Amino acid sequence: MTKILKLNNISPLAEKLFSGCEYGDKIENPTGIMVRSAQMADYVPGPELLAVARAGAGTNNIPCAEYAEKGIAVFNTPGANANAVKELVICELFLGGRKIVDAIDWAKSLKGCGDVSKAVEKGKAEFAGREIMGKCLGVIGLGAIGVDVANAAAALGMNVYGADPFLSAERAVRLSSSIKLSTNEEIFKTCDFITVHVPLTPETKAMFNDDTLAKMKSGAVLINNSRGDLVDDAAVIRALESGKLSRYITDFPTDSLIGVKNAVCVPHLGASTPEAEDNCAVMAANELLAYINNGNIINSVNLPNLSAERAGKARLCVIYRATPDMIAKITALVPGNCVNSASSTRGGFGYAVFDTDKKITDEDLKKVASASGVIRARAIN
Ligand code: MLT
Repeated sequence: MTKILKLNNISPLAEKLFSGCEYGDKIENPTGIMVRSAQMADYVPGPELLAVARAGAGTNNIPCAEYAEKGIAVFNTPGANANAVKELVICELFLGGRKIVDAIDWAKSLKGCGDVSKAVEKGKAEFAGREIMGKCLGVIGLGAIGVDVANAAAALGMNVYGADPFLSAERAVRLSSSIKLSTNEEIFKTCDFITVHVPLTPETKAMFNDDTLAKMKSGAVLINNSRGDLVDDAAVIRALESGKLSRYITDFPTDSLIGVKNAVCVPHLGASTPEAEDNCAVMAANELLAYINNGNIINSVNLPNLSAERAGKARLCVIYRATPDMIAKITALVPGNCVNSASSTRGGFGYAVFDTDKKITDEDLKKVASASGVIRARAIN
């Protein structure tokens, strides 16, 4: 029986999809794992583990490269929580323009002061803010969330600039025509508000640092709902103190940021809505099942994506090192008559499926698995 381990609380909708499986948080030697933010660096994968599905966007809690080397697919759920994050970013644009957080704190301090209305009218001038309409917003990273944020901000009357060197055709067509495609440099120079929507990688780590902050407009607002380590906190604190940044709003509080004037710390609430949790759980569960049951790889972050209709009696699934001779080499080892095949490569890894008119025996599988260049072979009979 397929065994699915969950390492975090996952929406109960996933349980329904796993109705034919053993599913829970105490499963040993699982076939698949459902995870949200649990740190997997120290998790030792068992021999049966085929795939990990991250119910969310960021996969920096999973050793994706190491898992690819072991033939373990890692999936995420792009877009499934995009609306929840977009709504939080829109809220944060208003928090960036106006001193709402400080003002609410101040209003609480008026309890018992006597004439509250009089105190409000007398003190409110200190909390005046600016509107976002007509201001320039830079959206760095135009994936599912970035595109939704850009379109929503444009609809609120902002002049929106978007930058993404890896913009996909699928996202480009969803982008409102009023959004100006731009570069990070132009955004730093031009924008009053900047929101970042890129994954955390060695290349993006601390991309907001003393150098890049120095290029920004004086008094800019920086919003970060992607990952804390995209930002050098010490540099941001210096920029807040000097007035270079008027506000830093982050979904990733740290000890050094808490209590800093004009640092607004939100406790990682971007995707914390029941709607987003349901969407992510369903998408992640379907990705795991598509791979475990049919060998289709959808939304993988570490192996090639590939979906092909099943045909014949059995499917041979092979993860291999992508060298020119591999497909011919594996094809020669497919048992019976191959009735359908498909392959795909990504970053040095290849993935191929072969549908055959014969059941695949353990002996057949051993031959494929032991061929040089093959990382992992699996039969779905
Ligand atoms: C994500 O990566 O999708 C968000 O940070 C939300 C979450 O961690 O679930």
